Amino acid sequence: MSFISAPSHTAGATPYFRKSFPVAAGLSQAWLRITALGVYVPFVNGHRVGEEVLAPGWTSYKHRLIASDFNITLLLKPAQTNTLGAIVGEGWAAGDLTWLGLTSLYTDRPALHVELVLRYDNGEEETISTDTTFQTTYGAFRYSSIYHGEHYDARLEPRGWSTPDFDDREWKSAEVFPWSEATIEDPIAQSIRRMEEIDAVALSESPTGTVIVDFGQVVSGWGRLSVSGLRGDEITLRYAEHLAPDGTLDVESNRTAQATDRYVIAGTERETWEPSFTFHGFRYIEVTGWPGTMQLGDLRAVVVHTDMDRTGWFECSDPLINRWHENALWSMRGNFVGIPTDCPQRDERMGWTGDLNAFTPVATFLYDVKDVLRSWLRDLKLEQDSLGTVPWVVPNVLPDPPTPTALWSDCAISLPWALYQEYGDIGILHDCYNSMAKFMDEVISGLDGDGLWTSGFQFGDWLDPDAPTDNPMLGKTDPYLVSSAFLCKISREMTDTAQVLSKRADTTKWRVVADRARSSFRTRHLNEEKLLRRESATGYALAIEFGIFEEEEIGPAANRLATILHETGYTIPTGFAGTPHLLQALTTGGQIDAAYRLATQTHIPSFLYSVTMGATTIWERWDSVLPDGSLNSTGMTSLNHYALGGAVNWLHRHVAGLKSISPGWERIQIAPKPGGALDYARASHTTTRGNVTCAWRIEDGEMTVTVNVPNGSTAIVTLPGHPHELREEVDPGTHEWKYKYTAVSI
Ligand code: BGC
Repeated sequence: MSFISAPSHTAGATPYFRKSFPVAAGLSQAWLRITALGVYVPFVNGHRVGEEVLAPGWTSYKHRLIASDFNITLLLKPAQTNTLGAIVGEGWAAGDLTWLGLTSLYTDRPALHVELVLRYDNGEEETISTDTTFQTTYGAFRYSSIYHGEHYDARLEPRGWSTPDFDDREWKSAEVFPWSEATIEDPIAQSIRRMEEIDAVALSESPTGTVIVDFGQVVSGWGRLSVSGLRGDEITLRYAEHLAPDGTLDVESNRTAQATDRYVIAGTERETWEPSFTFHGFRYIEVTGWPGTMQLGDLRAVVVHTDMDRTGWFECSDPLINRWHENALWSMRGNFVGIPTDCPQRDERMGWTGDLNAFTPVATFLYDVKDVLRSWLRDLKLEQDSLGTVPWVVPNVLPDPPTPTALWSDCAISLPWALYQEYGDIGILHDCYNSMAKFMDEVISGLDGDGLWTSGFQFGDWLDPDAPTDNPMLGKTDPYLVSSAFLCKISREMTDTAQVLSKRADTTKWRVVADRARSSFRTRHLNEEKLLRRESATGYALAIEFGIFEEEEIGPAANRLATILHETGYTIPTGFAGTPHLLQALTTGGQIDAAYRLATQTHIPSFLYSVTMGATTIWERWDSVLPDGSLNSTGMTSLNHYALGGAVNWLHRHVAGLKSISPGWERIQIAPKPGGALDYARASHTTTRGNVTCAWRIEDGEMTVTVNVPNGSTAIVTLPGHPHELREEVDPGTHEWKYKYTAVSI
């Protein structure tokens, strides 16, 4: 048993493999276990096996390569010859990766590994596995690449190639490919699937005469075409997130990713096709070469992402806020294509730790991410073990050796802690503890004399809107204030983790670090009035949310933060580090009006500017699209980056008021905070115990609050604007309060 490959390989080549074999009578069960270095599509006797796409997804292949198991008993014909086949594209393993133009980072060619176990009624067992008896050739897939797209020439499809009758005399014997079978593992995460198909909303002709199909939504996936034409007609699909103001396709946010699929018509009948070895981040597809006149239904968008269960919903009476929330949801979908990525369209699409760390609280609310992120954390740990530090991207493909950075590499601590909080599963902490502790020790070894994190490279408040366009880490907030604030957070998370795991010595060890960091942060960064010496919105947001201020200092600090925002016209002042915490810090500190004002601004840059510009996902920059509709040409203008979407956590936690205050939502704080012009909001979340919901509505001066508490949980409900400031502890079930509402204005 071994991996096999084609005898030779050229860039983008996508080999077919097949083998015919007899199946005896009396077959009771047949199990196919398959994986590949690359991306594979399996077939048995002419039938596609399973519904996974882009399998096996991207993991740290040198450590672990995920195999899928399929019960194919019903696809096999006992007492006959049967055929197993697979097509394997370069995928992440052999294709281009990173903006640095790196290629073949794991292997120089696609390689397949198959094990088919046949079990018979008489107890006998037979195994068919990849070896040199497999035959290989090239066919209709002329080229495939994750970044660049796929070229399919339907004329070259070897019809019936995965059936026994096919004549494969022209095919060559596969070669053994050296790759350790010890890397093969069972999946932890769900697979990537085609989640839905979207109809086009408009067809238009661009000034250059091409047809532009608009799907009305930025998604990850691909187009599915249905066409009749002459044999040899070639259709080209170019994907982009944006249209330039003159109506031409703007591919700039793809950077060097070609994001182009080509289909050559076989000319036999109406042909339906979609790619198999690539994916794109797009809203628009530019079509050239379409035979005849294209109709709306000829091209649909296939939405592709990891098959997670949806667990979170939010809506309110402001359509712009609803769209903002929807945009975060779509950015999550678009960036959970296997691993959690920064963006899905350009020559990057990598597992950037900081982006996920900023977005984690929203991700855990919206979808069940337990398995997909446990899987990713396993890669993080394996990469960390071999590098000695936590990489900035997981799987790691960056050539520069990473150094410990706040918000990015400390995801190694904050993510397991967040997953434990959400799911209440102590096993996550057990699994990750060594990785967490190792990272914490590394950070500790570089702390300054006062126990603060003030050395080494830091991303700081990445993409602060005031940072120079070409240097996003030079924001207003001192990067070492940011890292020291994150140190306070992660050292406390370590203390709590060690305590949960009953590691007494470690609890004390981490507590000493945490206490010292907090007290040194206060000495260094707070003045006599207990306000920041060097003020910035991010500085205040982090210090409030990370427990650096004393209880009685939070109000004045939030007041100061609100004043700064007021003085700058509620213009958004924060990047990746501060944004997820800004609205929450204001609300925690009682500045509810300021939070609503900030959240509802539409000028540039602000939370809702992108929404008023027609955004359907969260942008990488506050001004990724300029007011004239052109793309901000900075080389970093993805229109689908979830990091800044971390702020919608405020909608769940404060506007609708749902907050877990003990692991697994055993104890819940329900404290909705009406404000602004909202008269209605509702959030609902499927916890491991069941549904938790809070909905409030103000009508004719009367407030109705409806709450659902899951089984096994208790909730402390604080009723907003209640004449007696009612606070009640309630049991599982549905509860409703109606009372005369007295608006609380601060
Ligand atoms: C990515 C980011 C990432 C950053 C860090 C960018 O290219 O798209 O989202 O966190 O690099 O440097």
